[in-house]
Amino acid sequence: MRIAVIGSGYVGLVAGTCFAESGNTVVCVDVDEKKIDGLNNGVIPIYEPGLDEMVKHNVKEGRLSFTTDNDTAVKASEIVFIAVGTPPGEDGSADLQYVLEAARGVGRAANGPKIIVDKSTVPVGTADLVKEAAESQTKYRMTVVSNPEFLKEGAAIDDFMKPDRVVVGSDNENARDVMHRLYEPFVHDNPNKIIHMDVRSAEVTKYAANAMLATRISFMNEIANICERVGADVTRVRSGIGSDGRIGMPFLYAGCGYGGSCFPKDVQAIIRTAGEHDYDFEILKAVESVNAKQKFLLFNKLMKHFGGDIAGKTFAVWGLAFKPRTDDMREAPAIYIINSLLEQGAKVKATDPEAIAVAKEIFGDKIEYCEHPYDTLDGADAMLLVTEWSEFRNPDFDTVKSRLKSPVIFDGRNIYPKGELAKQGFTYYPIGSNPAVNEAHKSADPVRA
Ligand SMILES: NC(=O)c1ccc[n+]([C@@H]2O[C@H](COP(=O)([O-])OP(=O)(O)OC[C@H]3O[C@@H](n4cnc5c(N)ncnc54)[C@H](O)[C@@H]3O)[C@@H](O)[C@H]2O)c1
Repeated sequence: MRIAVIGSGYVGLVAGTCFAESGNTVVCVDVDEKKIDGLNNGVIPIYEPGLDEMVKHNVKEGRLSFTTDNDTAVKASEIVFIAVGTPPGEDGSADLQYVLEAARGVGRAANGPKIIVDKSTVPVGTADLVKEAAESQTKYRMTVVSNPEFLKEGAAIDDFMKPDRVVVGSDNENARDVMHRLYEPFVHDNPNKIIHMDVRSAEVTKYAANAMLATRISFMNEIANICERVGADVTRVRSGIGSDGRIGMPFLYAGCGYGGSCFPKDVQAIIRTAGEHDYDFEILKAVESVNAKQKFLLFNKLMKHFGGDIAGKTFAVWGLAFKPRTDDMREAPAIYIINSLLEQGAKVKATDPEAIAVAKEIFGDKIEYCEHPYDTLDGADAMLLVTEWSEFRNPDFDTVKSRLKSPVIFDGRNIYPKGELAKQGFTYYPIGSNPAVNEAHKSADPVRA
């Protein structure tokens, strides 16, 4: 099939490349000339494992190309995916200006009827607006399909090539068949993974999925906050509840809050959609406010440890990206933590395997960047683990201790062995268990950490 993908960011670039990988001819479009120039010179604008090789392979095979020329790309394609950003507007609703501009661009360029696929995460009813916007610019009929994307940054290629499910929302039989054929190569193990439904249900599905996942995180964070107060350990509670088949283990980790380009904005957007339809989405409002507080939890623990005065102190921050295996820092907890430290007059030395370049755009020279994690520790009053990159999981704690000014670790992702750290003389602050309270509550025959 001949496909145009408008918007060559995390989603558009991955989707376009994976469609090319399955034999389609794909042109990825973007308004960002620098990005397209880079792509045409083999420079991949984002860090995503496996993407670089796949892009280069498909470009070489002549199935994948990049352009800023929307008209030519649309004219050459039967299907046009819209994968531009939908950032939150001031009131929390999804800002559709990029989606609707892309839709008008399809209409302006159309040389016949087209299937337009909404890949961007958009509020219910957007497909109608996209159709209207595109058809306002052309005499041809546009068919709009909702095909929300569920890939996870850091595992995007795998998620796209081997999806759990593909949601296709369409009220048009031909478009439904075309989408089914397009996705069949990705689900050959089980074609039932392509779930067909009406457009509006597909639009709601994406928000419902992200809202559910965000809810699990905030729920566990509240359980963690209780555990800390009552002498329980959230990691054990997680095993205890996650083993229930109705609950399951994934997305039950307590931590220092969720970030990223999706959960925060999608939770806000569905709250807003509910409000517009005269419904108060109470659970999600709580999910959001729990998360907002959780992003300051490590900082608050740190302030308490240092008696409320950290001016002039130095802190080592391990992890800047909002999660491992990506360079994406949108809404990352690290931003909130670092800004709070700086506001209190502290110095920050930070490291991340992939996100330092992005962090430089955010913090400039306000913080020090270290390529090697250990270099952040020299002269630091404590270490804060913010993103659980695998290379941070097993540091040599003798080295960590010798290079830190004082052996204090604030672990925002519960990745370190608390028993061992205590033995080695660290003061260790995990999330969801409080070693001091736990000690006081230990029975005569305790289960050791
Ligand atoms: N990032 C994720 O993990 C993820 C996962 C699922 C869904 N989504 C959704 O997918 C959409 C895209 O997200 P993203 O993370 O890829 O965004 P992004 O910001 O990385 O990329 C968007 C791209 O669109 C380009 N663009 C904007 N207007 C354009 C236009 N008129 N024509 C051509 N290009 C244009 C921008 O220059 C940018 O390169 C959002 O709605 C997001 O919510 C994202």
